[in-house]
Amino acid sequence: MALLHTRRLLATPRLAAAATRASSWWSHVEMGPPDPILGVTEAFKRDTNSKKMNLGVGAYRDDSGKPYVLNCVRKAEAMIASKKMDKEYLPIGGLADFTRASAELALGENSEVLKSGRYVTVQGISGTGSLRIGASFLQRFFKSSRDVYLPKPSWGNHTPIFRDAGLQLQAYRYYDPKTCSLDFSGAMDDISKIPEKSIILLHACAHNPTGVDPRQEQWKEVAALVKKRNLLVYFDMAYQGFASGDINRDAWAVRHFIDQGINVLISQSYAKNMGLYGERAGAFTIICSSAEEAKRVESQLKILIRPMYSNPPLNGARIASIILNTPDIRKEWLVEVKGMADRIISMRTQLVSNLKKEGSSHNWQHITDQIGMFCFTGLKPEQVERLIKEFSIYMTKDGRISVAGVTSGNVGYLAHAIHQVTK
Ligand SMILES: Cc1ncc(COP(=O)(O)O)c(C=O)c1O
Repeated sequence: MALLHTRRLLATPRLAAAATRASSWWSHVEMGPPDPILGVTEAFKRDTNSKKMNLGVGAYRDDSGKPYVLNCVRKAEAMIASKKMDKEYLPIGGLADFTRASAELALGENSEVLKSGRYVTVQGISGTGSLRIGASFLQRFFKSSRDVYLPKPSWGNHTPIFRDAGLQLQAYRYYDPKTCSLDFSGAMDDISKIPEKSIILLHACAHNPTGVDPRQEQWKEVAALVKKRNLLVYFDMAYQGFASGDINRDAWAVRHFIDQGINVLISQSYAKNMGLYGERAGAFTIICSSAEEAKRVESQLKILIRPMYSNPPLNGARIASIILNTPDIRKEWLVEVKGMADRIISMRTQLVSNLKKEGSSHNWQHITDQIGMFCFTGLKPEQVERLIKEFSIYMTKDGRISVAGVTSGNVGYLAHAIHQVTK
């Protein structure tokens, strides 16, 4: 009888809605802060100024400011369509032709590691997903420490990736805001104090967000130090080829560490160097001490991946695999990736020369010294605020700009605006 009465009461829509609200499972869930970079894009979209610039998002644009699909990607897609390829599930570890070619791209054709087979590479969901596989593997199997040391600053997603996998974040000095360049002695000093058998993350090239990379002689010193400290090195290589325009030069640090006998972990992404952002193609590699160890590690990686997402997405890996494994298309890719890197490098030079033309007396050399998609301009938060309010030039508060968003059409306007807020 009481039940019948309640049912009758709930029949009125307002009461029914109230009952639903009262019994919500999620009333304790607080509104989270918006993603800082997506927030920049939202504000940019709302702005009606025809001169507006979005220098927040890290995606390549051509010289007319448009998203760019590489010709080699179009060719690979045409091959997939013409061969009417199937859409079957991939194995848990991904597309074998793709993972082998990814390992070769990172380690180099003549790598001893490749020849001996003492490595395992699994496909990941772009760079982020590959890092997350690595983080979860460390959480489960790296018993000597929970601590991951990140450069200060590091890519904003590194902290939540490792933290959500159950690891603890620590930092080592990396960037010197006074010189807008590498704080090499600070980094070496901090690394020398990291407890033995901890995990250290290094950006293989085109450090995000600073654009500041160690020189080869400095990398050699870092390698010697991490070897002495017996640290587990995890390389995040999200920009191979995109930094200097040369895939081998950008992989120099990774290969040098391996040559020194350091068995590193590597996450790779094809988002930037093939422009496959939304395809989510990436790879995660562990260098082991023997082929037999690599087999055991591979078995555990599969056990880890299976309940996460079962098996990785097919299309992007197929595109990347065709590009890497088809000599003509690979050749075209190498030219195109160099084209993207060169355009960015030339925008850096043009920005500095336009700042000089504007009459700026500041030293902007760090803009051309830095490398890759991002430039840490050294602009202060109040100056960034003015660039947004007075010039509709959007960027993150830390003064980082995506140089990929600068074109020959708007570099003059950017230089003018920067001069106005810094003079
Ligand atoms: C340093 C670094 N690592 C990893 C990634 C991962 O990117 P994605 O997941 O799109 O491959 C990025 C992207 O901005 C990055 O800058």
